[in-house]
Amino acid sequence: MNSTDEIKEKINKIIEMVNNSEISSIKQTVTQIISTIIDPDSSAKDLKKIIETDPPLAAKLLKLANSAFYGFPRTISAIHEAIVCIGFEAVRELALNQKVCEIFKKADYINGYSRISLWRHSVAVAVCCKLIYRREFRERGENIYVAGLLHDIGIIVFDQFLHHDFLNILRKSRSEKNNLLNTENAILHFNHADIGRAIAENWDFPVELVKAIGNHHDAKNVDDKYAKISFTTYIADYAVQDKLIGYCDAPNKNKTLFLKCLKKLNIKEKAIGLIVKEVEKEINKMEKSEWFQYEKK
Ligand SMILES: [Fe+2]
Ligand SMILES: [Fe+2]
Repeated sequence: MNSTDEIKEKINKIIEMVNNSEISSIKQTVTQIISTIIDPDSSAKDLKKIIETDPPLAAKLLKLANSAFYGFPRTISAIHEAIVCIGFEAVRELALNQKVCEIFKKADYINGYSRISLWRHSVAVAVCCKLIYRREFRERGENIYVAGLLHDIGIIVFDQFLHHDFLNILRKSRSEKNNLLNTENAILHFNHADIGRAIAENWDFPVELVKAIGNHHDAKNVDDKYAKISFTTYIADYAVQDKLIGYCDAPNKNKTLFLKCLKKLNIKEKAIGLIVKEVEKEINKMEKSEWFQYEKK
């Protein structure tokens, strides 16, 4: 029997393991970068300070700034130069991507899953979320990019800490063509969205981020206050999987719910189709650059 208390206790133990592992190294950088988005007085200076306190991140950013992807005619040797040349928003996204991708390095494929394919999916959902906010709401969206990037962080946690169960879940979900989430619920009585929600809460992420990550497979029971970020994450996750960009954790997706979310946010299905085409182009471009360099190892 798995009572609610037993499940809570299991999840708490998992979060403790997460906090004692390298996954927790992303917590500080992500939290600080989020604060530069929320704080209107934040500036390139704050961002520079955050990046400079993380030398491997700073080195990666400079490498990227000097890569063919940007094609600047001269060498960029300082973080503040990178911020000036690439732009504040773009550097913030690069820093988030670089930091979060540190936990997605393993390349072994198991039953259609690999951390790299999950990374491809996560970046695609983040870009899609961002474009939906910009194009459809004319808003920058404080937390929307991070929501997309981290919505499936619970899958990484299963892979790392419940590996034996995770292999069973992958096998079962693939053979039954069932959602990863449903299979997790059937085997463990909790799922990767529950783990993602618990991590976001434990790391004191903003509430809307906790809601977006926790509800990314269930956009039905969402407070009005958090509907925009939660529905957008749901729509982006659906659309990116529909276009088969990266790992797909929901082979039998809920089209009715997808259409309902679009209706609630007053977005046309066609508009999402156009946005996803842009996402695909962006991801293909990233893959040819330094972004996915670890795949070649
Ligand atoms: Fe998911
Ligand atoms: Fe996802």
